Amino acid sequence: MKHLYSTLLLLSFISSTISGQDNLIVNAYNRSTISIDGEWHYIVDPYENGYYNYRYEPFDQQPAPWASAFFLNSKPQDSTDLIEYDFDKMPTLQVPGDWNSQSPELLYYEGSLWYKKSFDYKQLNRTKRVHLYFGAANYKAEVYFNGQKLGTHIGGFTPFNFEVTDLLKEKDNLLVVKVDNKRLKEGVPTLNTDWWNYGGLTRSVQLVETASTFIEDYSIQLKKGDLNTIKGYVQLNGEAKAQSKITLDISELKVSTSLTTDTNGRANFEIPIQNLKHWEPGNPYLYTVTLSAEEEKVVDQIGFRTIETRGSQILLNKKPIYLKGISIHEESPLRNGRALTPEDAEQLLNWALELGCNYVRLAHYPHNEHMLRLADKKGLMVWEEIPVYWTILWKNEATYLNAENQLTEMIRRDKNRASTIIWSMANETPNLPARNIFLNKLATKAKSLDDTRLISAALEQKDYPGIANTRTINDPFADVVDVLSFNQYIGWYDGLPDKCSKISWKIDQDKPILISEFGAGAKAGYYKDKHTRWTEEYQQHLYEETLSMIDRIVKVQGFSPWILVDFRSPRRVLPEIQDGWNRKGLLSEKGEKKEAFYTLQKYYNYKTTN
Ligand code: GCU
Repeated sequence: MKHLYSTLLLLSFISSTISGQDNLIVNAYNRSTISIDGEWHYIVDPYENGYYNYRYEPFDQQPAPWASAFFLNSKPQDSTDLIEYDFDKMPTLQVPGDWNSQSPELLYYEGSLWYKKSFDYKQLNRTKRVHLYFGAANYKAEVYFNGQKLGTHIGGFTPFNFEVTDLLKEKDNLLVVKVDNKRLKEGVPTLNTDWWNYGGLTRSVQLVETASTFIEDYSIQLKKGDLNTIKGYVQLNGEAKAQSKITLDISELKVSTSLTTDTNGRANFEIPIQNLKHWEPGNPYLYTVTLSAEEEKVVDQIGFRTIETRGSQILLNKKPIYLKGISIHEESPLRNGRALTPEDAEQLLNWALELGCNYVRLAHYPHNEHMLRLADKKGLMVWEEIPVYWTILWKNEATYLNAENQLTEMIRRDKNRASTIIWSMANETPNLPARNIFLNKLATKAKSLDDTRLISAALEQKDYPGIANTRTINDPFADVVDVLSFNQYIGWYDGLPDKCSKISWKIDQDKPILISEFGAGAKAGYYKDKHTRWTEEYQQHLYEETLSMIDRIVKVQGFSPWILVDFRSPRRVLPEIQDGWNRKGLLSEKGEKKEAFYTLQKYYNYKTTN
């Protein structure tokens, strides 16, 4: 009876469920945070038995009893109580981290898994507000805190947060998160992808402390096309957000601008700047920018640069630039799970720099924030993309809203990163009326959120009608993007490497062209000859032939070969060669450089000096 009473007490909490997450807090990276990372207990729940009753109704939307609702972490009150789970006797997973790479029996697991963490919260400074911030959870997260459902987040690669100020206790705060990585036809991405479906709390979980009226969001970038004007806004959140004073300081430039927010807590600004050191590869200058509101300060490290196109050129700070790139999946070269640490980012980006890159394509979804912060510091330009990949349900409104939300969260998180120059809407999607509507809406949304960066998408090439051995881009979205990018696999999926010398290109749009993918598979250490598939010689031969072909495509302003490192994929099952890995990397998953690595490195070094 006692047990039922305590459950009913919780019922009152549940009924005031907060659905949906709060506005994303920008620059959590530099704020006052308390980490909730570490060992979390977990329960694997493929039948979602901890979420649904036997009528398949969610416990958190039904009247009691919920004895088996995992989010309550119920304990038997006496010897008669029936409780059929116990988090505290279960094993633990390291958070952050995908579950697949932490336990052999979870390598292929796709379904629901419950995480549980208890923690004390000592800093009960009542003038502070406290937010639970997730770097990412793949794919769908249901978050419960001290018996209350905070909300749900869908999308595996962007951050989200919930305010918990009024729910926190000094002792034994109970955080329970259900993460479900099932692939869904209506999902973004959908059922078929060529990467591993790593599930879980894949990025850090933090408590972010803010003032009662805090700096929730801001954009501080160069005005589009203007090397000497900083333009942007600051958005406050809290009761005192209106008519509030904010100071924007860039002390090195002797800039100190006073702003006053409007009734909605927002202040817009344009600040003329002299003697700015513009961010660029080779000289990635970052300024310390301080925003001081009445109750708190937020500091960020921001680079200032312009990125534009002029005809078929890409202009960085008004000067033409060639993008010497490489594509990268978010997989750790140090432990082969989802990459997530600064060390993972350091290793991946250092290999890109060793290749001679000034640009990376972060495929096929937003990577962890360490990658962008490090690209800022290392002077690598970045293509970021959302996982609108292959066969998305173009006509499904919920699918579109999901894609748009992921795009919004990506831009909101990274809009102050100088390294990010391109937002990509999609990868290898079919030229269909419904898809064109879907992508056009995404492109409009991207431009409304950020008019300073370029938009693109990895399109597909086709035969040029009526002209033999000639390829082109026959896709209406090519008229929407700023940069015309396409993937091509001549010599791998399309003939043999020497076919490259027989193909011409005729691309009519007067736009910069990026080749967003080309490549070939090679098993590291497998040598025979350049005509034998999977050998290092074949891959190297394909690179040589492709690079010669690229030199003959007039408007090409760069490319990002597929891919830096071999990566896990359930689609790649050839024994002794693939064994569950896509082998198009220039390095193996063990970090072994293949011959083609040096071929590309030599080409980029030549490109730099000529
Ligand atoms: C496609 C796709 C990649 C995939 C690659 C391949 O172009 O964009 O995600 O891994 O080809 O087939 O290896």
